[in-house]
Amino acid sequence: MSTDATDTTPATTPTPTHAGPLLELDGLRKEFGGRRPNVAVDDVSLDVHEGETLALVGESGCGKTTLTRLLLGLLEPTAGSVRFDGRDLAALTASELRGVRRQMQVVLQDPYSSMNPRMRITDIVAEPLVTHDPEARGRRARARNRERVGELLEAVGLDAGIQDRYPHEFSGGQRQRVSIARALALHPRLLVLDEPTSALDVSVQATVLDLLADLQRRLGLTYVFVSHNLAVVAQVADRVAVMSRGRLVEVGEAASVLRTPRHPYTRQLLDAVPVLDPRRGRRAAARTSAQTDAPTDAPAGEAAGEPTAEPTDEAGR
Ligand SMILES: Nc1ncnc2c1ncn2[C@@H]1O[C@H](COP(=O)(O)OP(=O)(O)O)[C@@H](O)[C@H]1O
Ligand SMILES: [Mg+2]
Repeated sequence: MSTDATDTTPATTPTPTHAGPLLELDGLRKEFGGRRPNVAVDDVSLDVHEGETLALVGESGCGKTTLTRLLLGLLEPTAGSVRFDGRDLAALTASELRGVRRQMQVVLQDPYSSMNPRMRITDIVAEPLVTHDPEARGRRARARNRERVGELLEAVGLDAGIQDRYPHEFSGGQRQRVSIARALALHPRLLVLDEPTSALDVSVQATVLDLLADLQRRLGLTYVFVSHNLAVVAQVADRVAVMSRGRLVEVGEAASVLRTPRHPYTRQLLDAVPVLDPRRGRRAAARTSAQTDAPTDAPAGEAAGEPTAEPTDEAGR
């Protein structure tokens, strides 16, 4: 097993090992509770193809996060199946499941809650390496891990020299970059991004979305992008899956779902977003973000990896 310490880039484009979709969800159901169970996910079937961004949208509580936990193999479905790269997660041994899980990583809305505040950036980013790779453990692996962490930090636009700092020294956008670096440590093929920019300022949000698009191009990543923000979805998604009360009510190409929604619930969602003109579609949204992005100095400040004086400014919103 390799720790990839000599890689100059975080990953090579993964070689497909299975001709079908990377991820196949079939009849997934998840009930919580006992006597009167809450059906959080109800008969969801969905394919996600290698290299695409599938946006999962729907109002709070509709089951988006539960669905991602099912597809990541972190929750056991009440019924239905998850296949990753053609392999049914339920049929895998524990060690096979670990092997598959390292190919699927998650980035959450609030990176601070998933970071131990007493751990240095270097240990936070190296954590998946240490957990999954015996060769990355012990004193002798330290230098190699630091080198790898430095590469990962640079890949997300941060300075490799911030390794000995602590999470509270960084802004929300910088912390989200750290959590993206951590998610990339094991060369995943699939990233589940659960509201990854929802806690960030609009200008910072644009720089993180640009980073994600850049990483996807360079590394051939597949994204399941959870968001309630349809303006963001219009910018990032190839396809959109709309969820309502645990069920998928509409799945299709982003442009057509956002421009000519078929389901009344999708229309309702779109009507609730004044900033998005669905007729303009993805390109227009991308243009808008490019305009917002260009003249401001926020991206430079973010990308430089400079610790901020006021640590948690935009993170609390
Ligand atoms: N661990 C859990 N135990 C019980 N109910 C849960 C649990 N996780 C989620 N739920 C319920 O499942 C439903 C869907 O929640 P969630 O998947 O978090 O929605 P979303 O991410 O779309 O906001 C909600 O009714 C929520 O209360
Ligand atoms: Mg959620």
